[in-house]
Amino acid sequence: MPKSLISIHDFSKEEILHILSVAREMEATGSSKLLDGKVVACLFFEPSTRTRLSFETAANRLGARVIGFSDVANTSISKGESLKDTIKMVSNYVDIIVMRHPLEGAARYASEVCDIPVVNAGDGANQHPSQTLLDLYTILETQGRLENVTINMVGDLKYGRTVHSLLQAMSHFNPEFIFTAPEELKLPQEYKHFLDSRGIPYRETSSLQEHLGDCDILYMTRVQQERFSDPMEYEKVKDVYRLEAAMLNGVRDNLKILHPLPRVGEIADDVDDTPYAYFYKQAENGMYVRMAIIAYLLGYK
Ligand code: CP
Repeated sequence: MPKSLISIHDFSKEEILHILSVAREMEATGSSKLLDGKVVACLFFEPSTRTRLSFETAANRLGARVIGFSDVANTSISKGESLKDTIKMVSNYVDIIVMRHPLEGAARYASEVCDIPVVNAGDGANQHPSQTLLDLYTILETQGRLENVTINMVGDLKYGRTVHSLLQAMSHFNPEFIFTAPEELKLPQEYKHFLDSRGIPYRETSSLQEHLGDCDILYMTRVQQERFSDPMEYEKVKDVYRLEAAMLNGVRDNLKILHPLPRVGEIADDVDDTPYAYFYKQAENGMYVRMAIIAYLLGYK
């Protein structure tokens, strides 16, 4: 079975560092014909702007062609075709599949029913490993290191898959965490067990202001409306945090504010004009990192 990227655990520390190094080269060199003749499928069963378009741009910049869909209503899934049959069909046409699906485990399942690499572009509240690699790339770019970084993760730590993937990846690099969330959106116990088992320190708070001055990376997240089964529960927490420029007095000089995006009010526009905002460059970095991921999984070492 070819190597896929479904969970961040599918890549060793050495592979993660290799991807970051190649992504740096991709950023420096721009476009190439490395994947001339290859075809990449982008199958998005859930909405996306950055992930889909940056994967497609990454494939195009490497000389590959792209097929796929961003709305299942225009596919035979709307007639009742199974995920298994959809993946088996598409895998006959292309060299690699990038997929996003609302069900946790869907990407792993897809990788088990076909013979080509699969990249998980987000499966429910579970994992978003390509986002994690671009987050690592951005942390390295802004801090000059991955080791000994203090990350304050803010917002929806319960359903935020980017949070779950990132804390697992950072476990290679001796991090310290601050988890800022309301009671309803606290980090699930399984991830705290994971950190405990590796001796990684963390503090929890519900106050956004409390630890703004104690971190190198402020990782803001959106409350994931689409994961709530009860709309009233979402209404209770949707506006829980709003970071404004005036709140950043006294933060560390090296602080950078990251966000996987989209943002829906948790970062005020006036933060964009501070030297701490870095989320637009973070999103751009996704393109270089996804060029490196596609090339690696297609065997270009
Ligand atoms: N960060 C991220 O996954 O954004 P999209 O949902 O727009 O792809």
